[in-house]
Amino acid sequence: MLTLGIETSCDETGIALVRDGREVISNQVLSQIPLHERFGGVVPEIASRAHVEAITRVVEKCLADGDLDFKSAPKALDCIAVAHRPGLVGSLLIGVTAAKSLSWAWGVPLVGVDHIHAHIYSAAMTAKEPETERYYEDHELFPAVSLVVSGGHTSIYQSSSWVDHELMGATLDDAVGEAFDKAASILGLEYPGGPAISKQAVDGNEKAFPFKKARMNNKSLDFSFSGIKTAVLYTAKGQNARKDAPLLDGLSIPDVCASFEETVVSTVVKKLQWAAEKTQAKTALVGGGVAANGRLRSQLAQLGQDLGIKVLIPPWPLCTDNGAMIAGLGYRLFEAGNRSDLSLDADPITAR
Ligand code: KG4
Ligand code: ZN
Repeated sequence: MLTLGIETSCDETGIALVRDGREVISNQVLSQIPLHERFGGVVPEIASRAHVEAITRVVEKCLADGDLDFKSAPKALDCIAVAHRPGLVGSLLIGVTAAKSLSWAWGVPLVGVDHIHAHIYSAAMTAKEPETERYYEDHELFPAVSLVVSGGHTSIYQSSSWVDHELMGATLDDAVGEAFDKAASILGLEYPGGPAISKQAVDGNEKAFPFKKARMNNKSLDFSFSGIKTAVLYTAKGQNARKDAPLLDGLSIPDVCASFEETVVSTVVKKLQWAAEKTQAKTALVGGGVAANGRLRSQLAQLGQDLGIKVLIPPWPLCTDNGAMIAGLGYRLFEAGNRSDLSLDADPITAR
């Protein structure tokens, strides 16, 4: 069963071909970072225009990777899966419109996929049990706790299937990736800030600046990252400094980055631990761009050992936004009988 996945929820045009929901044949991701970096964040209007310009070309390249073209694709494809929520609505609309057009023109069934559910699916999509080298069966994974950490989301869910996710906690202000991006911007590092901060943090002392962990009372599963962003500003530029003030003389950027990263990552991991303990989860599923972070990955691996549960994190190309996770979950939905029709619409928010 071959699925074409289409993902345009933010600033990546992601198109993928996936067999049987797991085997990634092609995963094309055209990033718009060069278009947005001078603004320090994604500009929605620029993002949707760039998707329009790129999408046909990226679909063509992806098909070619699977030895297909616009003529042979209709016969070869079983399903077209598209991310239709949540995200920037102008960006989502481009993917949804492309998917509906191809589905109609080719006569290939269409399935709408929730982008957040797909980030969660990506954690297990290619994961294999270490001893047997076989894929996990769904019943071995659920009940699970799921953590989505990206530029737009920081949420913990109790998950009972690939599409049943009950929200247990979420950020009250900035998303964790957004906090990385804003801290990097304060420090004058490049955009996106997550990889830039990680790179600097490798040479830093994570104990240099004892930033406060937010909302740790009563095992709260909610997050807040606006306080640490201000703490980074005042540490780097002086008490009550403005964002455009210069960095303090002698400031060690690696030390600020390591302290920031350690505080944020250990907060996230602690809350995931509380969620897993509370729900007696068999598995923790972790997805989203920030799941690419090395410190987070190693603390999560430790958490798995400490709690004796499986912790599944996607390989790096499946962490940030991509079409493969959409095709993967889309196939699962298709197999379970789900179909979307041409009334499928883009929705800026996730399932209620
Ligand atoms: O999932 P994603 O590609 O897009 C959204 O749906 O938001 O996540 C992008 C976010 C950005 O904020 C970026 O700074 C962050 O993921 N990110 C990282 C790392 N790589 C990407 N954050 C921390 N460490 C990283 N290595
Ligand atoms: Zn995402």
